[in-house]
Amino acid sequence: DVSLMRIVMIGSGYVGLVSGACFADFGHDVVCVDKDEGKIAALHAGRMPIYEPGLDQLVAANVAAGRLTFTTDLAASVAGAEAIFIAVGTPARRGDGHADLSYVFGATHEIAAALSGPTVIVTKSTVPVGTGDEVERIIREARPELDVAVVSNPEFLREGAAIADFKRPDRVVIGTDDARARGVMQEVYRPLYLNENPILFTGRRTSELIKYAANAFLATKITFINEIADLCEVVGADVKDVSRGIGLDNRIGRKFLHAGPGYGGSCFPKDTLALLKTADDYESPIHIVDAVVKVNEARKRKMGRKVLHALGAQGDGSDARGKTVALLGLTFKPNTDDMRDAPSIAIAQALADAGVTVRAHDPEGTKQAKTMMPDLTYCADPYEAVQGADAVVIVTEWDAFRALDLHRLKSAMATPVMVDLRNVYRREAVEAAGFSYTAVGR
Ligand code: UDX
Repeated sequence: DVSLMRIVMIGSGYVGLVSGACFADFGHDVVCVDKDEGKIAALHAGRMPIYEPGLDQLVAANVAAGRLTFTTDLAASVAGAEAIFIAVGTPARRGDGHADLSYVFGATHEIAAALSGPTVIVTKSTVPVGTGDEVERIIREARPELDVAVVSNPEFLREGAAIADFKRPDRVVIGTDDARARGVMQEVYRPLYLNENPILFTGRRTSELIKYAANAFLATKITFINEIADLCEVVGADVKDVSRGIGLDNRIGRKFLHAGPGYGGSCFPKDTLALLKTADDYESPIHIVDAVVKVNEARKRKMGRKVLHALGAQGDGSDARGKTVALLGLTFKPNTDDMRDAPSIAIAQALADAGVTVRAHDPEGTKQAKTMMPDLTYCADPYEAVQGADAVVIVTEWDAFRALDLHRLKSAMATPVMVDLRNVYRREAVEAAGFSYTAVGR
């Protein structure tokens, strides 16, 4: 089939592995590369380095079909590739919040040295405006004789829904001015054309900015409803109804209006900071995002105080000393094992600072959580977690916490107090079971 492409994915982390497996499933010939020998060995053995629903089956099927392979040998894989994706990490740099591009540029130098002919290099990592220019400069300087185009193709997939998001995206954004590169990218995403998913061609800098603008807008939407939730609490309104009431207006839209303990994860906190850094560099401030970042940071700690108050503590919460709290859900959202910037971390810290003992249960995040919060007591299930507790807090809305046996919970607890930071329960039901109930914005 002439439309099949030879694709190399540099970086077999979250984005690289999901994208690589999905491109293979489109029918392309895909090699996923990573420097981490342990990760590649695990993938060869059929073990996934990340938790993502459906990924293990997708990888297994495409490995069996001979379309998906894994290697640590970047140079060998790059030779002859028609499209080389860079999907390495861009963590926030300590100190200034700027995206750390050392992995991106490191991969670029290695690719440049290994290239054997014309190719298209695609940055899938989230990179600040202008990074594509620098990648192109590095390649041209190292290999002036080769015809190489550098394209921006940001990724919008959500953890926990990554495969569906990749295969049925709201849109695909491709930033390039190069006609040949555009043709290659059209072939790479050919199956989506058949499904008529919108594919948007833009300039490279525009494409780079779209990713940051999208994430900053979503973070703003969440933070907006969180502050409205606080107002609801004091004026006696219900934020769930406010969300519905405004979200049914198509100009606003219903999604991302769930009030909660603040956003976390690998993207929003890092990408909002990186956008602010770019705005600062170009002296074009984005005050609204500046406020979002500050409000969200403060909110995570504020949720710890909310729990202390539910325990009956006053003021700084120090009179809660000696009490026990059970946290249900530690990851930044359900269906992931990702603990990065999770609100649970600030909440557990605030509780520990007040002298409260924290017991915790998470369906998938315990391993990562233990490395970040070694002092918590980790429990195998919700009912073990609430043993002797003075309050149970729903921090993350895992499905397993949506239908808890409230009578069983109550009988295991010292005092029946529930703090529902995700608004998954109905007040009447929880109170009927004998609990005192605190929600968010209701
Ligand atoms: C996000 C973007 O959605 C995705 O497009 C981008 O590529 C990467 O970042 P992700 O971080 O996986 O994806 O999670 P997402 O489902 O967007 O949730 C982010 C955070 O916002 C979570 O902490 C979640 O709990 C919180 N959130 C989300 C809310 O508090 N309320 C909402 O209404 C929606």
